[in-house]
Amino acid sequence: MTKPAKRILSGVQPTGNLHLGNYLGALRNWVRLQQEYECFYCLVDLHAITVQQDPAALRTSTRDGAAALLAMGVDPKTSVLFVQSNVAAHAELGWIFNCVARLGWLNRMTQFKEKAGKNKEQATVGLYVYPTLMAADILIYRATHVPVGDDQRQHLELTRDIAQSFNSQYGVEYFPLPEALILGEATRVMSLRDGTMKMSKSDASDYTRINVSDSSDLIAQKIRKARTDAEPLPGDPKGLETRAEAKNLVGIFAALADRTPADVLRDYDGAQFSKFKEDLAELTIAKLGPINDELRRLNADPGYVDGILRDGAERARAVADPIVREVQEIVGFLRP
Ligand code: TYM
Repeated sequence: MTKPAKRILSGVQPTGNLHLGNYLGALRNWVRLQQEYECFYCLVDLHAITVQQDPAALRTSTRDGAAALLAMGVDPKTSVLFVQSNVAAHAELGWIFNCVARLGWLNRMTQFKEKAGKNKEQATVGLYVYPTLMAADILIYRATHVPVGDDQRQHLELTRDIAQSFNSQYGVEYFPLPEALILGEATRVMSLRDGTMKMSKSDASDYTRINVSDSSDLIAQKIRKARTDAEPLPGDPKGLETRAEAKNLVGIFAALADRTPADVLRDYDGAQFSKFKEDLAELTIAKLGPINDELRRLNADPGYVDGILRDGAERARAVADPIVREVQEIVGFLRP
């Protein structure tokens, strides 16, 4: 089988609302990269159940997540959009990778430590092996590139280690070593309430994040209430180094406007946050408004979204199934 030159796989957890961090760190890049790459995008429900989920809510939020990706501009004709659990090969390769990855490698994963918290003994085994399944998501398509936010960098390094280790253990050049594509001015969007915490779906306070589904009024209100400091804005990014909240808002502005922070600060040198926040709210609403309108339209037509996901799963299986069979052959499984 010939290897595709440029193939992307990326995934997003279908739990709760997608937020501005997901959008600027990853999903906007998914849309932009579609012209240049063959793309596979999935809603990772197998990953979602590494922590407890309500079954009915998971089903709904998986469909909502797909609708949000379509609303952002994922094109189901050129890209393959699907639900991870609909393609069994992910889990099959995930098991094989559990037998390649070492405990020592997984013990270094910072995301497990953050998510498991103090109560490590009560974390699921699935949460622990989360990164080996993520490696399988990517390598079951022999993807070469993976657009993600900065927080996934370590998981991508592990994916490369697994690919390399598999190739050398079995004496093959089968898996590519995929590259992370961490692109743009907002690869790590922080909470609106605390510039040292990542913007996250799981934060208890909704005022820490801007959701793609928020109304214009709510977006304006959240930005107005965002934490800042008492100083006016500096004319240069160096002046933001010790000002986490200000730096975050300027980064969001720059990413949304497709400008650099230095360029944005030239316009706001010495400005008060009240003026800056007003403009940031206007810009955010202008960018998220059309997505929000499209999302509402798609949410009214769940049959259409389901049809796209069915078609996507079929196209994903057509690529993943032959690869998992080749891997089983390499590993030595009998197929009588
Ligand atoms: P998830 O669902 O947490 O996030 C989806 C994408 O959004 C990015 N992201 C952020 N970027 C910038 N600032 C933030 N505050 C922020 N929060 C989230 C994430 O980096 C990610 O790109 N493990 C993955 C899902 C996954 C996956 C994969 C990704 C499963 N299999 C295979 C790539 C390839 C995750 O939990 O993403």
